[in-house]
Amino acid sequence: MQTITAFTPQPKPVFSVQNYEIKDEDLPEFRDMKFENINQLHLDHPGASDEQYRTRRDYIARLAKKFRETGVITNVEYTEEEQEIWRIVANRLEEIQAKKASKFYLQAKKDLGISNERIPQLTEMNKRLKQLSNFRLAPIEGLVETRAFLSWLSWRTMLSTQYIRHSSRPEYTPEPDIVHESIGHIPMFTNRNFADFSQFIGHGARIASEEQLEELGRLYWFTVEFGLIEEDGDVKAYGAGLLSSFGELENAFTDNVERRPFDLEQVINTPYNYSDMQPILYVIPSYEYLKETTRKYIESFTK
Ligand SMILES: [Fe+2]
Repeated sequence: MQTITAFTPQPKPVFSVQNYEIKDEDLPEFRDMKFENINQLHLDHPGASDEQYRTRRDYIARLAKKFRETGVITNVEYTEEEQEIWRIVANRLEEIQAKKASKFYLQAKKDLGISNERIPQLTEMNKRLKQLSNFRLAPIEGLVETRAFLSWLSWRTMLSTQYIRHSSRPEYTPEPDIVHESIGHIPMFTNRNFADFSQFIGHGARIASEEQLEELGRLYWFTVEFGLIEEDGDVKAYGAGLLSSFGELENAFTDNVERRPFDLEQVINTPYNYSDMQPILYVIPSYEYLKETTRKYIESFTK
């Protein structure tokens, strides 16, 4: 259990992309999080007609809801079946990641103590994240709308689901789950440049026009979800949508995909389709470059 208590009631927009140090006392209370239209389980979800699965997913989702009332993250007691799904996916992903994932990511997974043997708890990862990059995770019961989700990044907070995909399709989930969050997203937040960059996106989301929000969604998609990086003359993956999917991770390095050098102007103007394999991916030269380019871009919002 972890208590998050030292938050002031009102979110203070004290930071900017020049001054973005976030202390616990700058954080809004999670009970003030207003969320509407949190995604319920879709009809095309592999677990949609499995009554037992739905009950379990609803139970774990309720724990996330409870967090917003109490500020306390409840550790989930995962069942043996859930642990088995994790082991299958984590082992298989690790094999591909060894060749295709960013060096930073591979080390970060170890630093966070994420193992193939058991599902990590948000509370454990929070302790390490705080030390490494002052980032944090807060449970959420499903997909929320873009502005709300991205805005939380401005407080160096990622909203994270805790339930796991259905056992009938271990390689697939149509919604974020604990595999996508903790194998895909969470290790990258231990990188200070990446964490700062994420925070800038969050800051942008709070002040963006509808059009700018759409651009930010594309930037997020082509980096946080599907980003590639150049490392030692090679191209590697750091995006969560790649790192948590066997199919996408393999596909990213084939001739099916056009891998272009990262160009912010192009990225924010390139539409994507979330239900197909990605035909275009963008390669950043470094995490620092991504941070600094994004800083300048978000600064332009206020001019
Ligand atoms: Fe994601």
